[in-house]
Formats: sequence, C-alpha cells, structure tokens
Amino acid sequence: MGKVFFVTGTDTGVGKTLISACLCKGLKNLGKTCFYLKPIQTGSPPETPEDPLFVLRILNEKENPLRHVIYNFKLPASPHLAARVEGKRIDVKQLKDEIKSFFNKYEVLIIEGAGGVMVPITEDYLTIDLIKDLEVPVILVSRTKLGTLNHTLLTVEALKRREIPIVGLIFNFASQHLTIVERDNIEILEKLTGIQTIGIVPEVIDIKLEFDKLVNSIELRRML
Ligand SMILES: Nc1ncnc2c1ncn2[C@@H]1O[C@H](COP(=O)(O)OP(=O)(O)O)[C@@H](O)[C@H]1O
Ligand SMILES: [Mg+2]
Repeated sequence: MGKVFFVTGTDTGVGKTLISACLCKGLKNLGKTCFYLKPIQTGSPPETPEDPLFVLRILNEKENPLRHVIYNFKLPASPHLAARVEGKRIDVKQLKDEIKSFFNKYEVLIIEGAGGVMVPITEDYLTIDLIKDLEVPVILVSRTKLGTLNHTLLTVEALKRREIPIVGLIFNFASQHLTIVERDNIEILEKLTGIQTIGIVPEVIDIKLEFDKLVNSIELRRML
C-alpha cells in the first residue's frame, strides 16, 4: 500500500510547498515513486496553479501542473472565500473522492494543505476535518524562530484532540547556526509535544542553488 502524508503548517508562508518539494526529491533519490498533490490552490490564475508549478520547476519535471490540483481559485484567500467570490462552492465529497483516487498509485503521496489546519474549506468544513476524514498522518512545518511555540503547540493540540497522527515536525527558516532561542524552541517543542523532529531546514538565499542542502536536512527514513 502507498504511503500518504498531509503536509500542513503553523500558518501560510511557513514553507509547506518548499518542504513538499524537498520530500518528493529526497524520496525520488531513494528510488521511490512520489506524487505531489495540492487539492485546493488559491491565489493563482486558472492555468497556472502556483504551488505545483514551483514544485515541478524545482524538480525539473515538465508536467501539466493542473494534474496536481483539484480546485484552483484566483483570489489569494482561504478556500471558502476564494471559491465564493467565483460563485462556486467546494464539494467536500467530490474533493475527498478525488484525493483518494490518488492513493495507492504511487509509493508516496504528498498532499499539501492550504494554510494551516483551522483554515475553512467551506463555511462548515475545516482543513483539519479533511485530514481526519482522509485518515492520513500529518507532517507539520513550523518555524524555528520567535513566535513558533504558540503556533506549533496550538496546531499540535488541535491535531491530537482529533486523534490525527503526527509523523514529525519539520522546522523551516532555521539560522545557519541555531541561536539559543531556536535551539530551545526545538527542544521544548519536542518535550511538550512528544513528537520527533524530522528536519531542521536552513533559510537559504538561493533555493534552486542550495536545493540539495535543503533536501538533505530532512531525515526521510523517519517517514518510511
Ligand atoms: N528554507 C528556506 N529558505 C529560503 N526561502 C524559503 C525557505 N522556505 C521557504 N522559503 C520561501 O518562502 C516563501 C514561502 O514558502 P512556501 O513554501 O511557499 O510556503 P507555504 O507553502 O507554507 O505558503 C517562498 O517564497 C519560499 O520560496
Ligand atoms: Mg504552499
């Protein structure tokens, strides 16, 4: 059976897309087949969903990015609103069925959520409800820096309350040499949550140039 991971984050802009690309690249390096899926993309023109485009470009894959999305909306907003302003409503059953149709087609399926876990997909259905219904484990992308404790602990608490398994934490935007605050943030989060860290990913200037370094900063064997 193929493995499925839902990559979520403590908020938007935390690096979910970049980390998803790193996971796909690392898994491919290990000889695994891996597919990246962004079920709901917002903030993109109809033909060019931003996150799949980014992932395909950095992996040097020339594929149609639309294969990697189910819904694509123009407004850079939460899915419930981005859909509404286009006069549409996300059909939750269809969304779940379409996502599930990707299960077992690849050795690993990486699903990237929109924003964090409490982001509404419709007015009465949150991202965390989707994760629960899909019955898939989560990889949580957090920052290392100031502000991460509250964000990360709230996210973990919400996931645990719903008995959603968390495979590990990936800390992004780390300083090249961790500061005392960053080091303690990681330690205290591991202690308070009991969740393992599977990556400390440095903030780099040129993502493309330093992509291998980013990929190698994640311990993929902890996922397999
Ligand atoms: N480790 C990093 N080093 C440098 N830039 C990064 C790093 N992680 C993410 N970024 C950049 O930060 C921005 C937000 O990252 P992204 O992966 O799009 O976040 P999300 O998917 O959570 O919204 C993007 O421009 C991305 O290229
Ligand atoms: Mg993204």
